[in-house]
Amino acid sequence: MPGKKEQDKELQELQEKLSAIKRRILVLSGKGGVGKSTVSTNIAVGLSLRDNMVGLLDVDLHGPNIPNMLGLKGTQPPVTPEGAYPVVYSPTLKVMSIGFFAKDNDAIIWRGPLKHRAIQQFLSDIIWGALDYLIVDSPPGTGDEVLSIRHLLGKVDGAIIVATPQDVALADVKRSIKFCEATQTPILGIIENMSGFVCPKCGEVINIFKSGGAETLAKELNIRFLGRIPIDPKLVEAGDEGKPCVEYYPESEPAKAFFKIIEQIEEILK
Ligand SMILES: Nc1ncnc2c1ncn2[C@@H]1O[C@H](COP(=O)(O)OP(=O)(O)O)[C@@H](O)[C@H]1O
Ligand SMILES: [Mg+2]
Repeated sequence: MPGKKEQDKELQELQEKLSAIKRRILVLSGKGGVGKSTVSTNIAVGLSLRDNMVGLLDVDLHGPNIPNMLGLKGTQPPVTPEGAYPVVYSPTLKVMSIGFFAKDNDAIIWRGPLKHRAIQQFLSDIIWGALDYLIVDSPPGTGDEVLSIRHLLGKVDGAIIVATPQDVALADVKRSIKFCEATQTPILGIIENMSGFVCPKCGEVINIFKSGGAETLAKELNIRFLGRIPIDPKLVEAGDEGKPCVEYYPESEPAKAFFKIIEQIEEILK
């Protein structure tokens, strides 16, 4: 392990590398499977479609599935002696994922003390260039891994907390809020995902679980509620086929909800 002085120097170098990124957004959730990657992907693609230069960073050690969601599985980022260049998804969207470096279906095993170093190495090696937005898909929960990422990013302009409508999810939301407070991370707002179901026959949104819990909690805690994304079978398909809904199904209910959220983010961070 390097000494304190060397660690400080490395951190400073990382900050210099990230300095041409105007806005850094961290996407958080209390647990896996709530749609964190879906939200990260669609917000990143949506922002890039609105003429912003965007980077999407997938540093979810347990399920780095952004490559799948963008149809980039098996792609190799160009690695040079200066560092690794993100994969170019479109002229305005660059993507980097831990998944690009993992072999097919290999579980990536990370051990405690090495984990922080590995994340730091990964972040330090990426050459982003100038970006308007960097969207970071983090590991679920509020444990050491997310803490490392938060710390290494230096300045974070805002966190987006993704939750589902069930009551049990609200305890997770509270934990994520505490995490943001403890790490001086401004909260952009909460998104309630899988909030109601879009009927494939009539297109109407039906509430399966009780919905609105996250919105009520947001109001109580004086935190911005960014919006609800309904369950849409198209979104599963879009995720599996690498076709983000904001790009391929812009008229779908989830895409419309994402664009409303994106407009708010642009307005808050302008
Ligand atoms: N609103 C939604 N409607 C339908 N399916 C969704 C929705 N949000 C997420 N999914 C699906 O649920 C699964 C988990 O989502 P994902 O974004 O991978 O969650 P996380 O990153 O939090 O683990 C994926 O198969 C995804 O396509
Ligand atoms: Mg994920």
